[in-house]
Amino acid sequence: MFRTIGVAIVAVVSLPIALISQQSKTVITVDAAHPGAAISPKMFGIFFEDINFAADGGLYPERIKNRSFEFDQPLTGWHAILPISSKGTLDATKGELDVRTENPLNETNPHYLRMAAYEPGFGLWNTGFRGIGVENGAEYRFSAYVRTGGPTSIRATITDASGRELGSGTLTGFDGEWKRYETTIRTNATDPHARFNLFLDEKGSVDLDMISLFPVDTWNHRPNGLRKDLVQLLADMHPGFIRFPGGCIVEGRRLATRYRWKTTVGDIAARKTIVNRWNDEFDTRPAPDYFQSFGLGFYEYFQLAEDIGASPLPILNCGMACQFNSSELAELGETKEYIQDALDLIEFANGPVDSPWGKLRTDMGHPSPFHLTMIGVGNEQWGPHYLERYKLFAAELKAKHPEIKLVVSAGPSPSGDQFEYLWSNWRQLNADIVDEHYYMSPDWFLKNTARYDNYDRSGPKVFAGEYAAQTSGVAKTDNRNNWKTAISEAAFMTGLERNGDVVQMASYAPLLAHADAWQWTPDAIWFDNLRSYGTTDYYVQRIFASNVGTRLIPVTPHSEGGVYTSASLDETTHELIVKAVNATSDTRAAEIQFTGVSPAGKAKVTTLLSSDLNAENSFDAPKKVAPHDSTVAVNSATIPVSLAPYSVTVYRIPLR
Ligand code: AHR
Repeated sequence: MFRTIGVAIVAVVSLPIALISQQSKTVITVDAAHPGAAISPKMFGIFFEDINFAADGGLYPERIKNRSFEFDQPLTGWHAILPISSKGTLDATKGELDVRTENPLNETNPHYLRMAAYEPGFGLWNTGFRGIGVENGAEYRFSAYVRTGGPTSIRATITDASGRELGSGTLTGFDGEWKRYETTIRTNATDPHARFNLFLDEKGSVDLDMISLFPVDTWNHRPNGLRKDLVQLLADMHPGFIRFPGGCIVEGRRLATRYRWKTTVGDIAARKTIVNRWNDEFDTRPAPDYFQSFGLGFYEYFQLAEDIGASPLPILNCGMACQFNSSELAELGETKEYIQDALDLIEFANGPVDSPWGKLRTDMGHPSPFHLTMIGVGNEQWGPHYLERYKLFAAELKAKHPEIKLVVSAGPSPSGDQFEYLWSNWRQLNADIVDEHYYMSPDWFLKNTARYDNYDRSGPKVFAGEYAAQTSGVAKTDNRNNWKTAISEAAFMTGLERNGDVVQMASYAPLLAHADAWQWTPDAIWFDNLRSYGTTDYYVQRIFASNVGTRLIPVTPHSEGGVYTSASLDETTHELIVKAVNATSDTRAAEIQFTGVSPAGKAKVTTLLSSDLNAENSFDAPKKVAPHDSTVAVNSATIPVSLAPYSVTVYRIPLR
């Protein structure tokens, strides 16, 4: 219980009466004389899934939709540009667009476009991902595989809705064989919804594949690399791990469309495009043009993890398609292939440069290992079939790679029969880490801050692998990312952190959403073709992940009267870190008292607050609710503080 001290607070009101109210002062006792267990450096991380156009059109900033003509409708995203006939109508006799398969670029990318101009000036245009985003003065790399014995050039333009040209570039020098050509286009205006056009200025035909337009300015300046502003938002979180590639996308609605990591590495032009499982999952938000090019594949995920200092956590299919969809199962005898995928993935990530998969990693530009230490076996699976398949995985993986921890699922709900059934089995099987999911109401989060206080310390560790407070309900389209959801998650996260000896990892989900193309809300980060912002929930994740200590410190009380606390010691920076969440509408006078250590100067105070629980960040006000830093002098082992209404505060107290 909170210790309380009566203090008199004088409130001056407009009436000529001074009201004196008694308000109790909260005493937060931080017992640094008795440090607890080590906190995992992976404690707070991120969950990436290609949902809401998070990959193509998002983190992977390809501007061209269906660049390789492999969508089910192979001309999705493409339209002919026909000259006007003498009768004033579009003249379809001036050129033709055919999707062909003879002598393709490669076997996994079998379709290509034959563009035949019967008159100069015939062309086609691409819609992009809800338009093509370009910025004034920026450069874009236009590339394509071309095969032609005819026309000697292909001209590209970028135009706005009125047809005004914003930039152009030309590919030339074709030699009759499939070959990649590229040029750079500089744009002279900003337009989030431009269009990309290709023209033949001579009669004749060309074969085209992998038509691409990419910003030159990418994260870490990698050619055709990741979108800079989005990776920056991720890097700023200081995530301890990154889980990828999902989520249900791992499972596929059918096994045929499950995520297969091996088809996502190597030559980009040979990565097999498949439908995205979120394509038409929800009637309310259909996205028939949602496919996966895998330009963002497993190599890029590992590279991203390394770039932002996060441990990689790949999740693999265990022979089960999504149990909310087909529930299709690979027979037990067929799971060999799935297990081999896991073994090969370990070799791809960690194997020597002369091993087959280690060589591929090396050839792709990364001879040193990616330091993979954990793998998820299945995503959100449940039931006896899951356990059967897990046992086969575990037998093989534990025998060959005892150094790799296996993450297993507790099913889609945070409680109930399935959850209990799985947990009792995981205890018996001595599983490493159990992934729990909770998409629940803000109230649930506030009421469950002590969820892990009584978890078995000797059993499997916990990964809070997917969670987000839902204002309306799971998969409802009117869920909001507001301060109410964020502060309830913050309160809950103090409970995760306090139980850092059993909860080893946690991640909010989903991570990214395109504002014009999403399927699922709420999400941590919203973006459109040019802009992005972190939600209130994002900033909660960010201040927690940026302020994890290395060792637990007991704090009492940790939840009372709407105030929630956690504490840790950072043994590398010699700081005591205290987090306090005031989820009430009152200012709470408090005193942080600590024992066992002496302060050494100014404490850094990071505060995230809003008096309005409905407050949301947006493209126009991206930092309406964002952290503010200040300092406070600490001269003794007692710090008087005032916790603002609806606030999250982190104190970093330097120690002698
Ligand atoms: O985060 C969205 C979805 O929620 C994930 O794909 C799935 O694992 C969960 O059901």
